[in-house]
Amino acid sequence: MIGLDKQEIIQLLKATGEERTALLTRAQEVKVKETGNKVYFRGLVEFSNICAKDCLYCGIRKGNEKVIRYDVSDDEILESCRFAWENNFASVVLQSGELSSPTFIKRVDDLLKKIKQISNGELGITLSCGEQSQETYRRWFESGAHRYLLRIESSNRELYYKIHPENEIHSFEKRIEALRSLKNTGYQVGTGVMIGLPFQTYEHLADDLLFFKKLDIDMCGMGPYIEHEDTPLYQHRHLLKTKQERFDLALNMIAVLRLLMPDINIAAATALQAIDPAGREKALAIGANVIMPNLTPTAYREEYQLYEDKPCLDEDAELCRNCLEARIHMAGSEIGYGEWGDSKHFYIRSKKQPETKG
Ligand code: 5AD
Ligand code: FES
Repeated sequence: MIGLDKQEIIQLLKATGEERTALLTRAQEVKVKETGNKVYFRGLVEFSNICAKDCLYCGIRKGNEKVIRYDVSDDEILESCRFAWENNFASVVLQSGELSSPTFIKRVDDLLKKIKQISNGELGITLSCGEQSQETYRRWFESGAHRYLLRIESSNRELYYKIHPENEIHSFEKRIEALRSLKNTGYQVGTGVMIGLPFQTYEHLADDLLFFKKLDIDMCGMGPYIEHEDTPLYQHRHLLKTKQERFDLALNMIAVLRLLMPDINIAAATALQAIDPAGREKALAIGANVIMPNLTPTAYREEYQLYEDKPCLDEDAELCRNCLEARIHMAGSEIGYGEWGDSKHFYIRSKKQPETKG
C-alpha cells in the first residue's frame, strides 16, 4: 500500500460505496497495527489573532476589519497550559496569527520557557505560528518547542496563488523553505492542506499526499475548506462541492494518507466538526490518532473564527475535555493520557530514542 502511485491515489480519493468502506476500514486497521488504538490530546491555545497576512480564505486575515484583535495575557496562557498538564494532556499547541516582530519572537520564547518551568519540563509543546526565519525556529526549539505545524495549504503553486495574494509575504517558495528549515532544525514537522477548495482537483489532492510523502513529514492536519463570508475567496463559493462532499473527501484523504504513511500522527481537524457534529470522532475511526481540544479561554474564542460554524465557542476547557473523552470512548478508542504520543515516524527517521514523557 505504501507505494501507491498518483492514479491509484486518485481512484481511492474518488471511492464511494463499498470501495470507500473498504478504504476506510483498511486505513483504521493500518493505524491500529502501526500506532496502536490510542488517541493523543494536544490542548490548543489560540493565543493571538493578530496577523500580518492576508490569506484569501481565512477569517482572521489582516484585511478583515470586523475581527476584534486580541492577545491572550501570558498569565491566562499559562493557566490554560497548567490545565492541560494537570489533566494529563501531556502536550499543548500554541497557535497564533503570523507575526515576526522581535517583540513577538521574544514573547513566544519567554512563554516556552515558562511553560516548561510550570510543568517540571513535562508538558510537550507544539508551535503553530507561521513562517519564521531559521534563526527564530532554532531559538524556539532551544527554548523547548519540539513540534511545529505549518500547513502548506496546497502543494500546487498555481492553486496556492489562487488562495493567497501573489506577493513577497505570501510566497509559495518561502513556505516550502520554512518547512525545510523546520526539519533541519530538528522539529517533528506537521503540515497539511484544506480539502474542497475552489479550483482544487483530485489531481491536486493526490499531489498533496505525494508531497507529504516526499517531504517525509511526521504529522499531518487537514480538514475541509469552509467558506467565510468576510474573505475574498467567498466570491467563488458557487464552485464549491457541498459541505457533505467536502467532508467525505476529507475522510478519504485521511484514510489514503494513513495507507501511504502508516506511522505518522494524523490529527482529526476541528473543521470536520464544523460540518458534522461527530466529524472528529469519525476521523479517529478511519485513520486519525490525534485530537486538539480547545483550551483557548472562552472569552476570546469568538474572535478566532478561521471559518464559519467553528465548534466549541461557548464550552470551556473542562467541558471540552469531558465531552471529548465521552465521544472518544464511545468511538471505541483509548486516550493516551500522560503520554507525549510523538510521531513514531520521527523516531524511525531520526534514529532517536522516544522520550516516554518530557
Ligand atoms: N476553512 C478551513 N480551514 C481553514 N483554515 C484557515 N481558514 C480556513 C477555512 N476557511 C486553516 C488553515 C490554517 C489552519 C490554522 O486553519 O489551513 O493553516
Ligand atoms: Fe468542545 Fe465537545 S469538544 S464541547
